[in-house]
Amino acid sequence: MFDGTRDQTALVRMEGLHKSYGAVKVLQGLDIEMKRGDRVVVIGPSGGGKSTLLRVLMGLEKVDAGNISFGGRPYITVRNGKTVIDTEVRRSIGMVFQHYTLFPHLSVLQNLVLAPCKVNGEGTASAKARAQALLDRFGLGARAGAYPAQLSGGQKQRVAIARALMLDPKLMLFDEVTSALDPELVAEVEQVMLELAAQAMPMVIVTHDMWFARNIASRVIFCAGGVVVEDGPPEQVLGKPIHERTREFINRVFHIRA
Ligand SMILES: Nc1ncnc2c1ncn2[C@@H]1O[C@H](COP(=O)(O)OP(=O)(O)OP(=O)(O)O)[C@@H](O)[C@H]1O
Ligand SMILES: [Mg+2]
Repeated sequence: MFDGTRDQTALVRMEGLHKSYGAVKVLQGLDIEMKRGDRVVVIGPSGGGKSTLLRVLMGLEKVDAGNISFGGRPYITVRNGKTVIDTEVRRSIGMVFQHYTLFPHLSVLQNLVLAPCKVNGEGTASAKARAQALLDRFGLGARAGAYPAQLSGGQKQRVAIARALMLDPKLMLFDEVTSALDPELVAEVEQVMLELAAQAMPMVIVTHDMWFARNIASRVIFCAGGVVVEDGPPEQVLGKPIHERTREFINRVFHIRA
């Protein structure tokens, strides 16, 4: 049962997350609390555990210790060394990855209606109508019958976002969704994400695009060494970082991009 009496303001609370791959310690006691209105951008060095964090949050990875609650309800816990995941909560989270994960043998429309019909038992007509409306909204209305191979990278990512939205997520996770795109296609995907942001969709975004981070984030979290080093508004973390380690990273990233 959803426990609405606890934790009214926190949408997600991650406490003491630990995760290793063999001898590689990736998350080393990570604590993050996300409020309902937050759009969190996670930045940090390559190999620092950003993707691992999102995959854990999506319930795709086991953890060694720690717990995550969602809307005050236990979501991921470790019991007797085993990761226990509330699958109902997991279904309320959507994720889009760097590399397109569309089903290649299905049309755009079929990609969108598959999960709502198969998993949620929604009627085909209703799912198709919702899918078409989402595609129209994202400027893809005319491509409903196309197959993924016939789309540009930017179109594929917009379809991937639309597909995730079909399940009415309460939280969206984006892992470097524009990194594999040609530069001229990045803006159309970022535009869709900004539109979701304007509609108050809670999001966790991993990006190396600091300009975009500044535009979309309500909070920026710098993760390194498996812990949160700095957490604050974008003006602080990207503009005037408090911690030396954040400052070094920001200087390096802006230097590379300049
Ligand atoms: N499935 C896996 N098996 C073994 N090691 C892994 C696995 N996934 C990630 N790792 C290791 O965990 C560490 C963190 O990886 P992760 O992909 O989370 O980093 P990241 O911050 O997303 O990096 P990038 O910015 O390059 O995407 C790395 O050392 C990586 O090699
Ligand atoms: Mg990554």
